[in-house]
Amino acid sequence: MNPIQAPAWAELLRHADHARGTHLRELFREDPQRVQRYSADGAGIHLDYSKNRVNDVTMAQLVALAKQTGVEAQRDAMFSGEAINNTEHRAVLHTALRNLGDAPVLVDGRDVLPEIRSERARLYAFARRVRDGQWLGHTGQTITDVVNIGIGGSDLGPLMVCEALKPVADGPRVHFVSNVDGAAIQQALRGLDPARTLFVIASKTFTTIETLTNARTARQWLVDAAGNESAVARHFVAVSTNRDKVTEFGIDADNMFGFWDWVGGRYSLWSAIGLPIVLSLGPDRFDELLAGAYDMDQHFRTTPLAENLPVILALLGVWYVDFLGSRSHVIAPYNNVLHRLPAFLQQLDMESNGKSVRRDGARVEYATGPVIWGEPGINGQHAYFQLLHQGTALIPVDFILALRQPNVLPGHHRTLMASCFAQSAALARGKTADEVRAELSARGMSGDELEAAIPHRVFGGNRPSNTLVLDELNPRTLGALLALYEHKVFVQGAIWGLNSFDQWGVELGKQLASGIEKVLAGETDASAYDSSTQALIERAIHAQQG
Ligand code: F6P
Repeated sequence: MNPIQAPAWAELLRHADHARGTHLRELFREDPQRVQRYSADGAGIHLDYSKNRVNDVTMAQLVALAKQTGVEAQRDAMFSGEAINNTEHRAVLHTALRNLGDAPVLVDGRDVLPEIRSERARLYAFARRVRDGQWLGHTGQTITDVVNIGIGGSDLGPLMVCEALKPVADGPRVHFVSNVDGAAIQQALRGLDPARTLFVIASKTFTTIETLTNARTARQWLVDAAGNESAVARHFVAVSTNRDKVTEFGIDADNMFGFWDWVGGRYSLWSAIGLPIVLSLGPDRFDELLAGAYDMDQHFRTTPLAENLPVILALLGVWYVDFLGSRSHVIAPYNNVLHRLPAFLQQLDMESNGKSVRRDGARVEYATGPVIWGEPGINGQHAYFQLLHQGTALIPVDFILALRQPNVLPGHHRTLMASCFAQSAALARGKTADEVRAELSARGMSGDELEAAIPHRVFGGNRPSNTLVLDELNPRTLGALLALYEHKVFVQGAIWGLNSFDQWGVELGKQLASGIEKVLAGETDASAYDSSTQALIERAIHAQQG
């Protein structure tokens, strides 16, 4: 259903006028139980959403909107393997990859769970051999370093998880190369021993130009060092859905780990795309990661909408985007090991919901996916938080904090936690002119100097945030956190009527790049392009010649 035709949409539009005139300070003052009322727990994650510009009416209408737009039926259709990716005629079953239950999951009448589990068993057996030193390089030496070559979903998920769990990593060192800029692979290979390096070429399609270019360079580097092509079989494995392209590239099908077209690239870390995670952390920890995601899947499927974490996060996002005019959303993880989480969530959210037509092809008449951005929060405080506190835009923030993590240094973690809590409090309450005046007079400032200083030091406050708290950062809670965001994105897409599982918007640039590459190579002329693009191409050709 078109969400603007839902009765709750009209209610929310009316209600937004009231909400614009209400300050979070008042909401907290009026209701001492506010934090209890607006907190929820699930799969080991605590969500405090009390610092949002909502009251019971807002939440009730938002939940009504979810119901009226059929979120529950759409959720059930996804879990049951219906082809909800309608432009590609595919099921969407990343949840099957972490399904620990016994009930079959059918795609075209066939249960996919046995296939998933047997491919995972192959993956684990291979990873164990590498980790135990049984899988040897071409000179008979063990593997010390793994280089994952992939981009987008074939890079960001495994990279983010490997970084997040690095403190407990006990396998070979893992490195990631995604950018086709030769500097990236040169830097990754510097200092590596070809005889002890394993390359994982990760690409769902195995047609991605950046990945194939880097893979060819890596292959040449190995063959040059080994002196023969046969070394490739001991040092290259592929993760893909495209067996033909993998063998065409020269990687034996025995060294390929597969997954399925019903796993979207940005949802694929739970599949064989997670190989770097398994190599670095071991199958047991990967199992825990899957179990955490499964916990969240169960929570999402069975918890009433008003207490359902992904639903709450999604509804709050819709509230700001469609009713209070927000256009971006910040992800601020406080634990440093989560430093790649914002980049991962950028692809997850923006490639899924950065769309302006509905699943039936009709143009939307409302705003959809916001710009997702962020950096570790504590660094952000010394950089972009100025704009969050005093800028003109309304930008909700997700504060993410694990209370315990491995190897905490005395004196560090307390500062980290205090900063996280202080920032959300500051955003919510702000600082009034009277408070600034009192503070500055107490410091001895007065007269014109005092009055001139006040406007610059006032904080409007009323800036919303969620705080997501993990008792501990471990594979299980991380799995739950990632699944939480996957389902948040799903719910928003369901409300907006989007197909969150295709990504046609990335295609035009690829098409044009392949044509422009031919112009740069001197194979065709540039007349097909606009004058700006022609001039840029011309400049690049001169630079190459010079
Ligand atoms: O160009 C976008 C995209 O198709 C993403 O959706 C995907 O994650 C990425 O490229 C990499 O694709 P592949 O795994 O097929 O190389």
